[in-house]
Amino acid sequence: MHRALITGASRRIGAVLAHHLHRNYDLELHARTPREEADILYQALHTVRPDSVCWHYAELANAEARAGLADELGEAPLDLAVFNASHFEPSNMGASPQQQVEALRHVLEVNLVSTWDLCLRLRPRLADAVRHSGDASIVVILDLYGSHPLPGYEAYSISRAAGAMLVQSLAQAFGKEGIRVNAVAPGTVLWSEGTIRAESETQITESTALGHMGLPEDVAHAVAYLATACHTTGISLPVDGGRRL
Ligand SMILES: NC(=O)c1ccc[n+]([C@@H]2O[C@H](COP(=O)([O-])OP(=O)(O)OC[C@H]3O[C@@H](n4cnc5c(N)ncnc54)[C@H](OP(=O)(O)O)[C@@H]3O)[C@@H](O)[C@H]2O)c1
Repeated sequence: MHRALITGASRRIGAVLAHHLHRNYDLELHARTPREEADILYQALHTVRPDSVCWHYAELANAEARAGLADELGEAPLDLAVFNASHFEPSNMGASPQQQVEALRHVLEVNLVSTWDLCLRLRPRLADAVRHSGDASIVVILDLYGSHPLPGYEAYSISRAAGAMLVQSLAQAFGKEGIRVNAVAPGTVLWSEGTIRAESETQITESTALGHMGLPEDVAHAVAYLATACHTTGISLPVDGGRRL
C-alpha cells in the first residue's frame, strides 16, 4: 500500500482528505495536539483497514517541533505529502505596526515556512518513493485568496500568494528527482470557526459561475487527481466553482 502524510488532518477538510485518500494510501496524519476528533477518525479508518493509520502531533509554528515531526515520520518511502494545515485569522489593521508584523510572521511560519521546511526534510523519502514506484508528489492546499486579497485577511492572503510561488519553485527544484509539486486552490467550501464571516453565502453564490459553494469532498477529489497526474507539476488547480472568473 502507498503511504501519504496529511497535515492538519483531525477535522474539517483534513478529515475528509483522510477518509478519501485512505482508499489508496496508508496514512501518517498530523494534528497540532491530540483531540477527540483524531481518535474518532483513527477508529473509523482502523476499522476499514487495521494498522493503516498513525497520528503525529506538532505545533507547526515551532521549528524544533517540525524537526521532531520529520524525525518521527521515519525513513520509509513517502508517496504523497498533503499540506493542509493552515492559520486563518483576520488581520487587525488597527493594531500597532509591531503587532501586525508579529501576526504576519506567525501566519507565514505556519502557512509557508513550515511547508517549505517539511518539504525539504521529506525530500529523501519522496525521492525513495520515486525509485520504488516511479512517482511521488506533494500537494499544498492554498486558497482562491492567494490570487486576489480577501478584505480583512491581508496577512493570510499574502501567505497564500507566497505559497503559490513555493509550489512552482519546489516543482522546479525537485523535478529532476521525479517529485511533483502541485497545489489545490479552493474557494469557500466550509465556514471558518470562531471568526466573523468575511462574506455571506449569498455573496459567494452570486459571484460563483456554478452558482453554489463547493464541498470538502471537491477538494479531496482534486488532491487525489493531482496525486496520480504523473506528468503534471507546478500547477495550482482552482476548486472554486468558477468564482475567480
Ligand atoms: N474552509 C474553506 O472553505 C477553505 C477555503 C479555501 C482554502 N482552504 C484551505 O484548506 C485547508 C483546510 O481548510 P480548513 O477550513 O479545514 O482548515 P482549518 O480548520 O482552518 O485548519 C486546518 C488545521 O490546521 C491545523 N493548524 C492550524 N494552525 C496550526 C499550527 N500552528 N500548528 C499545527 N497545526 C495547525 C489545525 O489543527 P488542530 O485542529 O490540530 O489545531 C486545523 O485542524 C487550509 O489550508 C485552508 O487554508 C479552506
